[in-house]
Amino acid sequence: MIGLIFGPPGSGKGTQAARLEEEMRIHHLSTGDTLRGEVAKGTSLGKEVGRIMAAGDLVPDELIVDVVRTRLPGAEQGVGALLDGFPRTVAQARALDAMLADEGHRVDFIVALKVPEDALVERLLHRAELEGRTDDTRDVIAERMREYHKLTEAVLEHYRKQGARIIEVDGTGTPDEVFDRIHLALT
Ligand code: AP5
Ligand code: MG
Repeated sequence: MIGLIFGPPGSGKGTQAARLEEEMRIHHLSTGDTLRGEVAKGTSLGKEVGRIMAAGDLVPDELIVDVVRTRLPGAEQGVGALLDGFPRTVAQARALDAMLADEGHRVDFIVALKVPEDALVERLLHRAELEGRTDDTRDVIAERMREYHKLTEAVLEHYRKQGARIIEVDGTGTPDEVFDRIHLALT
């Protein structure tokens, strides 16, 4: 089974995916976490993407598609995969669809989290105090939101046109409340 957890920066993709991973025994694959890991290790990929991420821009499609291509088969083995932060452009969605079609798979469901923008900014500024993620500054958050509206929102339309199962969930309230809504909608 292949699922996507979709939504703007700060909507709770990572928080909810971690819970779903446990609940559904599905492997959580976050491209953002993967890239931050590469930056921390100082690999050549990390050096290539570090500055782009710090600016709040999307890394090139070919590069992130390669990252997913190498990690997806291991991730989906037996249990399936929940992709968090990918695909983020229509080109990435097409590449994913082709990758899955080769194996006789497709995107089975999409959980799309909806949260008003002022709440997103508040969450991310709060996380900046706790964790100090370099892209959680007011200016970079604004750029991440722009990239989301400009390039990522269209991914949902891409899957809507395909008739994929899209579950739109109110992402406000506590993480437990959001999880209950997702759980109810998925089962
Ligand atoms: P990525 O790591 O994917 O970041 P993002 O999409 O901006 O989203 P976040 O991880 O900040 O938020 P989230 O939705 O996961 O929410 P979370 O659960 O953490 O990408 C980072 C960068 O990597 C991109 O800008 C780009 O440069 C690059 N990149 C990654 N994938 C790419 C791709 N496919 N193509 C190109 N470039 C790519 O929650 C946020 C905060 O809110 C946390 O502190 C959390 O504790 C809190 N919170 C969660 N739920 C709630 C709640 N219900 N109530 C209150 N607080 C909550
Ligand atoms: Mg995340």
